[in-house]
Order: sequence, then C-alpha cells, then structure tokens
Amino acid sequence: MKHTIVIYSSITGFAHTYAQWISEDLDADLYSIEELLPLIKHGQVALANYDLIIYGAGIRMGIIRRFSTFRKLIKRAGLSTSKKIIVWANGGTPQHPDRDYRSASRTFNRVELARNDYAYFYFEGGVRYEGLNPIEKGLLKTFAKRVQKYRNRGEWAVAVADHIAEGYDHTNRAAIAPLIARAHDILSKSS
Ligand SMILES: Cc1cc2nc3c(=O)[nH]c(=O)nc-3n(C[C@H](O)[C@H](O)[C@H](O)COP(=O)(O)O)c2cc1C
Repeated sequence: MKHTIVIYSSITGFAHTYAQWISEDLDADLYSIEELLPLIKHGQVALANYDLIIYGAGIRMGIIRRFSTFRKLIKRAGLSTSKKIIVWANGGTPQHPDRDYRSASRTFNRVELARNDYAYFYFEGGVRYEGLNPIEKGLLKTFAKRVQKYRNRGEWAVAVADHIAEGYDHTNRAAIAPLIARAHDILSKSS
C-alpha cells in the first residue's frame, strides 16, 4: 500500500479546498502545516514513511506561503532530492502558461530550480477578504486599486480588476487533473 500526504497552508480557504480535493483523489492523509508541525516534533508523523509528499498554499506577494517551513521539514527528513515532492500554489489570477511559473521561480532557490527538485502546479483560487488580518486586507485593497490601471495588460488583468473589490471564488476541481496524473506517475515508480 502506497502512502501519500497532502500538506497545505491556507488563510482564506482556497488552498484548503484544493488540498481536500487532492487528498480525496489520492486517498491521502491531509494536514495543515500548522497541525502537522507538532505531530512531526513529537514523532507521531514521519514524512520519510510516505511515498509521495504534496505541499500547497496561497501566494502572498509572489511567494508560496510557508514554503520555507515546508522546505525545513523535507530537509530534516532527508527528502530534499527524493523527487517524491509535488508543490502547488493557488493565487488570485487565472491560469496562464506565461505567468504560472512565476511564483515558483520566486519561491524555490536556484539549486532547487536547477535540480528540478519539485513537480510544480499553479491553480486559480480566488480572493476572499474574510479571515485576512488588517495588514493583508490593506495590501489587497491597495493591489485592488492598482490593478485597475493594468487593464491593458490583457484578459487576466481585466478579470481580476472587475472582481477583486468584492472577491471571487474560481476554484475548479478539474484543474487538479495534471497534478493527480503526476502523482500517479511518481507513485508507480516508487519501490
Ligand atoms: C496580501 C496578499 C497578497 C497576495 N499576493 C498575490 C500574488 O502575488 N499573486 C497572486 O496570484 N495572488 C495573490 N494574492 C491572492 C491569494 O494568493 C489568493 O487569494 C489565494 O487563493 C489565497 O489562498 P488561501 O485562501 O488558501 O490563503 C494575494 C492575497 C493577499 C491577501
């Protein structure tokens, strides 16, 4: 029996939605990184026991949230170069081949990128104001104003500018299919 773990970090619920769908499709264990940290510390969960480890989170100012914490966990478990790791990010912008990799290239370090340590996927989440702290809410409102001037940058900018003030949910279960296919591929190769 192969074992998969899905770990997520979510402030407004979008990463949680994707994490739940992914864990259902892969029959995987599911933890937020916040609940997992003490379990690892007390030896109740060991990442090395898993055949596949998946991490996903929302994007904050171009960076995948809490990835540095996740990186420490896989480093400690000796899994950094195991090729058993999948990472996804969910953001406020629609999927687009030219932009999807940007958050990964800002989050992963040069060595990780050169070695291709992680299989990476981007999904559109959405924007929700409930649950954000005042600083994040302020940053988002500033961005909401600024994006109004970027409408000429293409369809994505118009889509975001039109809906960002009230928020939107563009989560889509079908979007996880390529990640699930990659997961099966990694699991089929694990001994
Ligand atoms: C302060 C802040 C900064 C954000 N920066 C980005 C960004 O750089 N790129 C992006 O696509 N989305 C950005 N977003 C949108 C979030 O990534 C998006 O709402 C995500 O789906 C949230 O995931 P969560 O609900 O799991 O926390 C930002 C949101 C906030 C509040």
